[in-house]
Amino acid sequence: MDSADRVILVTGGAGYIGAHAVKALEAKGFQVIILDNLVYGHRDPVETHLKAKLVVGDISDRSFLDKLFTDNKIDAVMHFAAFAYVGESVTDPAKYYQNNVVGTLTLLDAMRQHGIDNFIFSSTCATYGNPQYIPITEEHPQQPINPYGAGKFAVERILQDYDPAYGLKSVIFRYFNAAGADPDGMFGEDHNPETHLIPLILQAAAGKRPAISVFGDDYETPDGTCIRDYIHVTDLAQAHVLGLEYLLQNRVSQIFNLGNGSGFSVKEVIDTAKQVTGKEIAIEQCPRRAGDPAILIGSSAKAREMLGWAPQYADLTTIVKHAWVWHQVRHFS
Ligand SMILES: NC(=O)c1ccc[n+]([C@@H]2O[C@H](COP(=O)([O-])OP(=O)(O)OC[C@H]3O[C@@H](n4cnc5c(N)ncnc54)[C@H](O)[C@@H]3O)[C@@H](O)[C@H]2O)c1
Repeated sequence: MDSADRVILVTGGAGYIGAHAVKALEAKGFQVIILDNLVYGHRDPVETHLKAKLVVGDISDRSFLDKLFTDNKIDAVMHFAAFAYVGESVTDPAKYYQNNVVGTLTLLDAMRQHGIDNFIFSSTCATYGNPQYIPITEEHPQQPINPYGAGKFAVERILQDYDPAYGLKSVIFRYFNAAGADPDGMFGEDHNPETHLIPLILQAAAGKRPAISVFGDDYETPDGTCIRDYIHVTDLAQAHVLGLEYLLQNRVSQIFNLGNGSGFSVKEVIDTAKQVTGKEIAIEQCPRRAGDPAILIGSSAKAREMLGWAPQYADLTTIVKHAWVWHQVRHFS
């Protein structure tokens, strides 16, 4: 079957990563329906730049899902919809388990009833917990240290059980830190509140916040600040298309890390942002935060080998540049 005959439901498609994935799917000829409750998503970039129909609704609303699946013949579901604030998941775990686990179960059960058995799931490196070795491979033990990671881990476990029992095949992607913005400037990172490092640094560069807080400068890393793995959102999106094609062709469940494979320290990211923006960026030095490991870097060798995934925008300067261009147009002009 041609991709033009395939209809993909993208939950959370009005969010940061989801919108980039819809663009990549449409470029490959897939028909896309976006389901988003717009709690954190953005209607206007989707309606301006994508062909996909945006259906406003909630993954936890079973009768809404039944109607959606009755009215449309869906071949696969790409599931981005979730809450994703690690700190909030600690103070309000019920909110996270309800949306990210119970909501996903509702979605999976509706899919089962309507005979939809291809599922792509946004999981996270937060399912690993504290790293026991670097780079982290897919076989690394999963011992999440916060409710956000635990909820994603629970869904992974559910998917493992649904495959042999119900024939529901899934590709699970465990992302490291999604970063950057669409190279054509259509979409970018627009979280409110924002907690991710690169947009926060760019806000400081644009004078929208007085300084960037750096948590800890005495880690066992070359410059003392934490090292993280940043993966360009367009490269993430591309991996989702490859994962979907793999699943539709092979009907075998798989798990893949998606990361850059090289880490960058907080100081390196700030220095790169200074170069890219040509602005001074004030630093507020703060104590370490509990639960922050010194280094988190993922191995994406499996995705490269099995899916033929080849990230195009792996260098930090490009990631920061794309984010800066988009932020200037969207927020700072
Ligand atoms: N951003 C990252 O670095 C990162 C890293 C690892 C994993 N992830 C995962 O990737 C996915 C997408 O993340 P993002 O950064 O694009 O977040 P986002 O908040 O920009 O997008 C999530 C979208 O889901 C929608 N949504 C949430 N709950 C919903 C519900 N019950 N019904 C319908 N729509 C709902 C929101 O309105 C939003 O548009 C999430 O599952 C997240 O956990 C993100």
